[in-house]
Amino acid sequence: MMTRTERLVLRPMTEDDLPPLRAILSDPVAMAAYEGAFDHDESAAWLARNLRRYDEDGFGLWAVDLPGTGMIGQCGITRQFVGDEPVLEVGYLFQRAHWHRGYAVEAASAARDWGFRELGAPTIWAKVRDTNIASMNVAIRLGMTVRRRFVVHYRGVDMPHLGFAVDR
Ligand SMILES: CC(C)(COP(=O)(O)OP(=O)(O)OC[C@H]1O[C@@H](n2cnc3c(N)ncnc32)[C@H](O)[C@@H]1OP(=O)(O)O)[C@@H](O)C(=O)NCCC(=O)NCCS
Repeated sequence: MMTRTERLVLRPMTEDDLPPLRAILSDPVAMAAYEGAFDHDESAAWLARNLRRYDEDGFGLWAVDLPGTGMIGQCGITRQFVGDEPVLEVGYLFQRAHWHRGYAVEAASAARDWGFRELGAPTIWAKVRDTNIASMNVAIRLGMTVRRRFVVHYRGVDMPHLGFAVDR
């Protein structure tokens, strides 16, 4: 999978992407909705899980490159659960230095459209922790509305979430 948008390139991650991935996952501010920064091992496990998704599902979170700068974020489609329901979700996490420029919506719009087109998905979801206003605004800009409330158990914490979704 390789997709270009007006300003960005979405491509599969490789083992070499661990350093720029760490720049996102080790930032406590970027990782607030995930209950704090990941250490090196947690980041390596995140990358390994994502590479496994490419093998098992044929898709996953992709690296987002800003030409001339390098990898500034990750965005793509993954299999997730909203409550008990299996769904296709668009995920987006960007380095803090590259927030507030519209990159997340630009990349996530391309991933959403890829899911509709290539996977024939009737609906694409975004699971958003109820404290994550920036992410809610991305979901709204993707044309999504709130469909569900549910709780995610992650890193020993009960996290209330909203299930945003848009239909094809
Ligand atoms: C979620 C996240 C990706 C959103 O980042 P973001 O910078 O707010 O989103 P965008 O890149 O789409 O930028 C949108 C902002 O850029 C502004 N903008 C500036 N130039 C723009 C342009 N050319 N085009 C579009 N928007 C532009 C928009 O007005 C908007 O401003 P606002 O933040 O004041 O509302 C970011 O907060 C993040 O990485 N968080 C940590 C990880 C995370 O929680 N991910 C979500 C898990 S559910």
